[in-house]
Amino acid sequence: MKYLVANWKMNLINSKNWICDFNNNLNDSNLNDDLRIVICPNYLQLPKFNQNHLSKINFSMGAQNVSGNNSGAFTGEISAEHLSEFSEVRYCIVGHSERRSAGETDAMIKAKVKQLLTKNITPIICFGESHEIQEKGETEKFLNSQLNSIVNDENLNIDSCILAYEPLWAIGKGIPADLETINNSISYITKIIDLNKSNLKILYGGSVDSENSGEILSVDNVSGLLVGNSSLDGKEFANIAKKF
Ligand code: PGA
Repeated sequence: MKYLVANWKMNLINSKNWICDFNNNLNDSNLNDDLRIVICPNYLQLPKFNQNHLSKINFSMGAQNVSGNNSGAFTGEISAEHLSEFSEVRYCIVGHSERRSAGETDAMIKAKVKQLLTKNITPIICFGESHEIQEKGETEKFLNSQLNSIVNDENLNIDSCILAYEPLWAIGKGIPADLETINNSISYITKIIDLNKSNLKILYGGSVDSENSGEILSVDNVSGLLVGNSSLDGKEFANIAKKF
């Protein structure tokens, strides 16, 4: 299975227009049967989508975040159980760099992953190094530190998660990471997690568009794309879907 994930962030999108643009652009083109498209709008838009809107594709909804707690006095938070009330919500992004920079720690991210797994919602766990870490040649050490406690927890089934490698310096910049960097980082992850014994999928994210998606998908062990800016336009997003 390959994945194409749209992260709409806090952008103002008219979902009706978006769906129209997406469907019109797909028209009669046949997408790869093996492709699952996951749309992650804001929480309030989640109930507005259903399979009828995007009938021709393998499609699921995803959330952009979730609480690390089960329930209780956590004003403003949304629990995994709340998400599971919408049957179409099968995925949730966690640990996005924009949330990490707002103070989320690896321990908080792991708690979110655990909450999601109890509700059979697949966590899409973002990880990636900053420019400074890359310059110091410490990327592998850093990636290991971000994923270590999740990957090595015997009570957590890593096969039920998706990873998304998103180097911070490539997010929202218009220029994705070079193929060698993507290959090096993803090969490193495949050493930590033996992909021969695991079904774990690893996505790439950071300035993906319809021009560069084909070559990024050709990198070994890249099983899909997590797309921010270029997912905001239904037509462009459909163009990316056609590259799978
Ligand atoms: P971008 O964002 O595609 O705009 O770089 C990706 C992301 O933040 O997940």
